[in-house]
Amino acid sequence: MVSSNPLLVLLLFTLLYHNSSLEDLLSDQPNGFYLPFESNLYVEITIGSPTKTFNLKLDSSTHLTFLECDPCDDNHKCYDRKSSNTFSPISCNNSSLCPLSSNTTNPYNATTRTETSLSLLCTPSNFCRYDVSSFSAGYLVSDTLQLTSSITDQENSLSVVHGFVFGCGTSNGVLPEDDGGGVDGRVSLTAHRFSLLSQLRVTRFSHCLWPSSAGSRNYLRLGSVAAYGGDMMLVPMLNMTESNSYSYHLAIFGISLGQQRLRGNETSTITIDIGTYYTSLETSLYEELKEELMTQIGPTVAYKVNELMCFTTEVGVEIDSLPKLTLHFQGFNYTVSNRGLYLRDSPSSLCIALVRSSVEEGERNVLGASGLIDYAVGYETSERMLAFQQKDCLVDFVDGM
Ligand SMILES: *[C@@H]1O[C@H](CO)[C@@H](O)[C@H](O)[C@H]1NC(C)=O
Ligand SMILES: *[C@@H]1O[C@H](CO)[C@@H](O)[C@H](O)[C@H]1NC(C)=O
Ligand SMILES: *[C@@H]1O[C@H](CO)[C@@H](O)[C@H](O)[C@H]1NC(C)=O
Ligand SMILES: *[C@@H]1O[C@H](CO)[C@@H](O)[C@H](O)[C@H]1NC(C)=O
Ligand SMILES: *[C@@H]1O[C@H](CO)[C@@H](O)[C@H](O)[C@H]1NC(C)=O
Ligand SMILES: *[C@@H]1O[C@H](CO)[C@@H](O)[C@H](O)[C@H]1NC(C)=O
Ligand SMILES: *[C@@H]1O[C@H](CO)[C@@H](O)[C@H](O)[C@H]1NC(C)=O
Repeated sequence: MVSSNPLLVLLLFTLLYHNSSLEDLLSDQPNGFYLPFESNLYVEITIGSPTKTFNLKLDSSTHLTFLECDPCDDNHKCYDRKSSNTFSPISCNNSSLCPLSSNTTNPYNATTRTETSLSLLCTPSNFCRYDVSSFSAGYLVSDTLQLTSSITDQENSLSVVHGFVFGCGTSNGVLPEDDGGGVDGRVSLTAHRFSLLSQLRVTRFSHCLWPSSAGSRNYLRLGSVAAYGGDMMLVPMLNMTESNSYSYHLAIFGISLGQQRLRGNETSTITIDIGTYYTSLETSLYEELKEELMTQIGPTVAYKVNELMCFTTEVGVEIDSLPKLTLHFQGFNYTVSNRGLYLRDSPSSLCIALVRSSVEEGERNVLGASGLIDYAVGYETSERMLAFQQKDCLVDFVDGM
């Protein structure tokens, strides 16, 4: 599943050695690191000694990185605690990592459904159990993590975190789409102290996604090489409740399709989540948009493919000529690239990469990876700002080399 791109020579070792406890990390930031990921949003990480490599899906709403762990069966790649010399269990004695003995309030529980909550519990045998909203549950553990950069610059080629804290999942609710794709878990890109970013001591990162037809590999820029500032449009993140201020929410003051404004003065929120492919909209907004799209594209036959809305077109219609979707952020109108918004289903039909948010998910708006294509998107978690700039990401990548 991991494509080998001959352009990319993956280099070897030694940049950052981080010490074990979270409090105890080295004070130097990584200078900058290019972490490659596939267009299916999987990143490759290496854990343990001897090392083992896993494919984890990027996730900017779950606070803990987790892997398939016990029981290790033949169907999944699995992290086997017993075969790693650097594995360490996290006990409830370790109050800095598992602060929840007995009935203290769980500070990590999210209070709204806008993101995946993480709860930690002590077992009678004194181990720390985690639970991320029925997604995955298991034990909190630590081991050595290695990340390999895609850029052939010796200094930036590898980052090592000793005592990386993650979840050893004993019960994983794997989603059907993940299941088919050989994913071994998820990597947390939130600003929570247990996320990959926090454990790398990175407060800034960025991505620039290509349309999937342009190539298979993208990358995250971490630390000083992140695209941020300069000519980019900065938009402040919303400060939600304390527990979900770790992921990335923006206020949205309306949506337009073409020149037509759908929602006038109502404000709402939208979550930026590269770990979700399709953009989802609250039901009322989705319905309004669908109706407006049908009006603007004229006579067509609409049909559904899974959860996507599709429609017939004249043969060879230019995707760029179709109505554009604009999100009105504070001080900045973000126009979704049509190369991410419309997917070709056949020579004479297209689907739109939007889904109706489900009631179970709390009717939320999410700008997913397909809506982030053709933009450099920078995250500054300490200043709580997001930065956007329209860009040809393929050119950006070549420059990055
Ligand atoms: C807590 O866990 C960290 C990381 O595994 C470890 O370095 C530290 O020594 C532990 N502290 C205690 C008191 O066990
Ligand atoms: C936890 O602490 C208690 C008392 O300090 C000690 O007896 C026990 O061995 C420790 N357990 C672990 C797993 O470190
Ligand atoms: C919860 O806390 C109270 C007061 O601190 C204590 O009396 C009680 O035993 C605790 N319950 C459990 C299950 O630990
Ligand atoms: C935290 O979440 C867990 C699992 O969802 C739940 O059992 C627990 O009661 C919650 N704790 C608090 C303090 O809300
Ligand atoms: C969010 O909180 C941070 C620090 O707590 C503050 O600097 C920032 O201005 C707040 N942002 C908004 C949009 O209120
Ligand atoms: C917009 O604002 C006006 C006046 O403040 C109000 O009457 C109207 O209902 C609002 N429209 C929407 C869609 O919220
Ligand atoms: C965004 O678009 C609206 C029209 O839909 C326009 O009135 C507004 O000035 C634009 N804002 C910016 C910052 O360009």
